[in-house]
Order: sequence, then structure tokens, then C-alpha cells
Amino acid sequence: MSLITEIEAMRLAAINDFNNAADVSSLEKSKSVWLGANGKITSLMKQLGSLPKEERPSAGKAINAIKNALESVLAEKRAELELKLSLPKNPTDFTLPGRRRRLGKLHPLIRTTDDIVRSFRKIGFAVAEGPEVEDDYHCFDALNTPPDHPARDTQDTFYIAADNTNTSKIATVGNASNPLLLRTHTSPVQVRVMEKQKPPIRIIVPGRVYRRDNADATHNPTFHQVEGLYVDKNVTVGDLKGTVEFVFQELMGPETKIRFRPHYFSYTEPSFEIDFSSPLTRKMGKEWLEIAGCGMVHPQVFENVGYNPEEWTGWAFGFGIERIAMIRYGINDIRLFYENDIRFLRQF
Ligand code: DAH
Repeated sequence: MSLITEIEAMRLAAINDFNNAADVSSLEKSKSVWLGANGKITSLMKQLGSLPKEERPSAGKAINAIKNALESVLAEKRAELELKLSLPKNPTDFTLPGRRRRLGKLHPLIRTTDDIVRSFRKIGFAVAEGPEVEDDYHCFDALNTPPDHPARDTQDTFYIAADNTNTSKIATVGNASNPLLLRTHTSPVQVRVMEKQKPPIRIIVPGRVYRRDNADATHNPTFHQVEGLYVDKNVTVGDLKGTVEFVFQELMGPETKIRFRPHYFSYTEPSFEIDFSSPLTRKMGKEWLEIAGCGMVHPQVFENVGYNPEEWTGWAFGFGIERIAMIRYGINDIRLFYENDIRFLRQF
């Protein structure tokens, strides 16, 4: 066999060998069998010397060409095997549906607040806001609750020391006779709104309030209320009752009944507590549940904001949002609202 035919046979055998390599390490082994220092192609090179002088250049060229060709086959095969190695063992099925992110939900307190606001909007009430860091005057005095009034005992709160803040506005606003505090109810917003605008007024005030209460199943130092205020000419208790009934039937179902019991609040006269009854209260083992406070705006409150009590009449109410949400959803511990336990929140 001539050297040329031998070379061609070797080329085919080497390519075959390379292509059969299952992984990079067996490819490297094949490489050394053919192209290594003692490889078959290398030894052909060494035989060149035994050829007649005139045949040597063409044979040498042929061997070199084959060496180069094999190198490039080798490089290609190596790239192919390395790529294979980096791919996942089980091929991806691109037709599978993607992973969906869970949709977030509104917190049950936000949902309840939104529902309350939506009901009041239907009958022409606008949402008003006021500061959570309030002053003593708006929280109590303007609502006809002077410092020695016993009603203050039920609404102990957190006071903001006026002397330990040197940069914030707070220090310049609060003073010894009118200290700053965290509001205990949303009622001061009644005063703030009336100070700024003339009647008629038809507002609700959803918001956060604070009290120095220890947390238990029905109390938390931070909670939420909705305040309502309606001021116009010739407003009656009948208007109040009709409004409250409409909203509670929206919130708690069409079978809801409400009743007023006489009560005392210093900023309303007469004052009432509102009870309601519905399938929800019966589920909790009671016919009537106390749900809100309300009454006709006290003439002194009108005086305090510069309204003429002979000219204007009005009613106000306030209730806790947590309590409404707890009854609606059958929640038995108020603290669940604030723990951010995803297992609790997912249920709504
Ligand atoms: N501010 C009262 C409280 O926090 C609730 C309340 C009672 C609000 C009677 C009113 C009202 O506007 O007229 O317990």
C-alpha cells in the first residue's frame, strides 16, 4: 500500500474515531492515539525519511493537510461535546405553561374600609382626613371634653413630649397647655373640617387611632375607626338612623336591623349607642351587638368652630373598622389583623 493510500485510510479511521467519542475525555484519548507524540499520524511523519527523495515533499504536504483537517474535526467535536455537557439532562418542554405568580389581595381591613367608603359615597358623603399626631384641643377640648372630664379616662393615649424634639415642627406646635398626642378617635377631624369650611357638610373619616390599651383578643393600641358628620339645616335623628341603617344593610346584609340606645358622649346631645342584629350576630350567639356611637352634634361643638347653633343642626357617629371586619369574616382575635401571617391573609 502506498503511503498516500495509507494516509487516506488513517484520515477516515481517525475521523470515525473522533466522531464516536461519547465525551470530552474519550475524545482526548483518541486525540493522543492519532495526533499525540507517539500517535499514528506522527509516526507517519517519522517514516517520511524512508521514502525516495522525490516523493517526500508531496507526502509531507499530504500528511500536514490531514493533520490540519483532523485538528479542525477535533475542535468541532470538542465544542459539540462541551455544549452537550452544559445542557440540562432532561430537555425543556417549551410548550409547558409558565409558573404563575400568586395575585396579591387587599388586607381585610382595607377591604372593609373600602366597602364602608363605597356605601357612603352612594349617598353623597366625601372622605376627609386629619392628622394622627393631633393636639389635645382638637382631640378633647373642642369636642366639649375638658381636662377634668371623666370621659378622658376611657381614652388614655400616648403623648408626644414637646421638649425632646428640637428639629421637627412638632416641638413648635405642641405646648404645655395644648400638648401633642396620638389621636384616640377620629372625632377631632369633625372639628378640623368645620373649622375650615361652612355647612352643609357631609363627610366620613376613615383612619388610624391610638389608645393606651394592652393588646388582647379584642383590643390593640392601634386600630381604625370611621367617623361620620352631617351638618345642614333641620337635620334630625331620623336622618341619622336612616343613614346608619342604609350603610349597615350594605355592609352586613339586607336582613340587618339596627336599634338606638340612649348613651352619653360629650360632643353629642342626645347621644346613642347603635346595636345591630343580623344572621351574623346570631352566628355569634347574640341577637344584638353593639357597633357604634352617635348623636346630634352638641351646640357647644358648633360654638367652638364658629357655627351658629341656632342656625345649624347635625349628627355624627363613630365606629371601629376592626370590629366590623371581625363580625363580617368571623375573626375572633383582633391581633390577627396586624401579624401579617400569610396563612391568615390568604383566606380573604
Ligand atoms: N369617638 C367615639 C369613640 O371613639 C365614637 C363616637 C361616638 C363618635 C359618638 C361620634 C359620636 O362622632 O357622635 O368611642
